[in-house]
Amino acid sequence: MIGTWQCYYLPHEMVYIMPLSIYIKTVMTALGNSHNHWGLVARLFHWLTAFIVLAMFILGLWMVDLNYYHQWYKTAPDLHKSAGISLFAFTLLRLIWRFTHLTPSPLASHSAFEVSVARFTHRLLYLLLFGLMLSGYLISTADGRALDVFKLFEIPAIIHGIDKQEDIAGTVHLILAIMLISIALLHASAALKHHFIDKDRTLKRMLGL
Ligand code: HEM
Repeated sequence: MIGTWQCYYLPHEMVYIMPLSIYIKTVMTALGNSHNHWGLVARLFHWLTAFIVLAMFILGLWMVDLNYYHQWYKTAPDLHKSAGISLFAFTLLRLIWRFTHLTPSPLASHSAFEVSVARFTHRLLYLLLFGLMLSGYLISTADGRALDVFKLFEIPAIIHGIDKQEDIAGTVHLILAIMLISIALLHASAALKHHFIDKDRTLKRMLGL
């Protein structure tokens, strides 16, 4: 026994094998956050959300202009709705992970003002995400029909039949989408400013570097 590592003698060499407990601890450390870094799970949640939000925004703007005879006329909205519901579940899981794990502390070089603006922006991004997904659900279910998710299962229409529900929810959905993309752009610009101007580790931490 050397330290906590097992040492085995084979005919021509000595082999050190990491005990399972250390292996599990190493994997768990990489997955979870620490005071100074975002773990793999939080980073995956973040970058997948960023990709899906951007893709959904482009898809949403494109699909509303399709004419009835276009081959994507029905498929694009179906995909948009299914991805929206998946993003909803994904964001719930993200928040559960977020509140059951440590969150990295702000960098010491950030002023109290920067820290509170960042905190406010992050909360706003989560809020806009949920508002966007809820308004999308209300558009789809306005006529009382359930929402089909990737033809795997359906989400029933709980709130429907409100006067002009589809129009109102549609307008709210568009406004929230524009707000989310604008705030996300500001948020990304702040991350780039930290990286290229302040030359601190804010962006590197979220990239796992
Ligand atoms: C739609 C796109 C995006 C959304 C919705 C989004 C959302 C978020 C949220 C909610 C957080 C806070 C995480 C938490 O505390 O739970 C966060 C952190 C972060 N995001 Fe984004 N993000 C987006 C795109 C981007 C992009 C494009 C960049 C970089 C260019 C970026 C860089 C960062 C960084 C560096 C952090 C960590 C900040 C810190 O350590 O205080 N994000 N993002």
